[in-house]
Amino acid sequence: MLASPVSFDFDYLRRIVREKTAIVLEAEKVYLAEAKLGPIVRRSGSASLTDLLRDLRSQPWGATHQQVVEAMTNNETSFFRDLYPYEALKNRMLPELLTKRAHVRELNIWSAASSSGQEAASIAMVIRENFRALDGWKIRILGTDIAAEMVNRCKEGLFAQHEVNRGLPAQYLVKYFDRVGLHWRLKPILSEMMEFRQMNLSALWPNLPTMDIVFLRNVLIYFDVDTKRTILTRMKSMLRPDSYLLLGGAETTLNIVDDYERVDFSKFDAYRLKNRSSKA
Ligand SMILES: C[S@@+](CC[C@H](N)C(=O)[O-])C[C@H]1O[C@@H](n2cnc3c(N)ncnc32)[C@H](O)[C@@H]1O
Repeated sequence: MLASPVSFDFDYLRRIVREKTAIVLEAEKVYLAEAKLGPIVRRSGSASLTDLLRDLRSQPWGATHQQVVEAMTNNETSFFRDLYPYEALKNRMLPELLTKRAHVRELNIWSAASSSGQEAASIAMVIRENFRALDGWKIRILGTDIAAEMVNRCKEGLFAQHEVNRGLPAQYLVKYFDRVGLHWRLKPILSEMMEFRQMNLSALWPNLPTMDIVFLRNVLIYFDVDTKRTILTRMKSMLRPDSYLLLGGAETTLNIVDDYERVDFSKFDAYRLKNRSSKA
């Protein structure tokens, strides 16, 4: 049992979050739990988080367990997060793939922990803004996330004012979004390229098309080394030899798997499979 002044069963919470998402909740996250789970406590009619977790512990797995687990995910994101990945996408990756995939006129891009959809929307904006040559191509931006609430938000394509204030150039807001009351909705010219579904990166993966570019950004940091290794190993089969894998600024394949090489985009590194001999 965790030595802490909190009254609720943090060990149980930590265990179910780990089992269902692979996320490792550090001990200091104990204080976040009260805030994150407060709304679920109120909705459930429980008197406290202590009571809620005690009840859940004695019940078979159900919707409230799932909500608790999802609420403990960190969904922090923003449009054009870190900027340089999108510069590299625009200046190097897409121009290169435009030539290499000209014979099939098809591109598959995966936002593999899409949160509320800003990453997928940013990719779509880079394409629409800079690559008229891709008009008529079959472009599919697939966004997946473990949290049902996030996937639903992605499908709605609706963003609050404070969200469009983060990272989104003003001219893109005007060009690619419609005002809906206090929110902003992605225009069909972007949303028609995007598709969203729920998916747990740490469970079995569904059948997905081979990807040309994968944004696997700011999610591996929550996993232990074994889970990172499993995901990065599984990711190999999703990539062509010339596909790109993009990780978050605090994430790397180094010392985890030996199958990727870094591609230097000056202020940002992407990854590619080392063995270029197969699946071209
Ligand atoms: C910090 S956000 C990153 C969002 C976006 N990729 C970015 O870089 O801005 C992490 C996302 O990973 C999702 N996530 C956590 N564990 C996951 C898992 N096992 N499988 C799929 N998604 C997961 C969370 O729900 C959350 O939306």
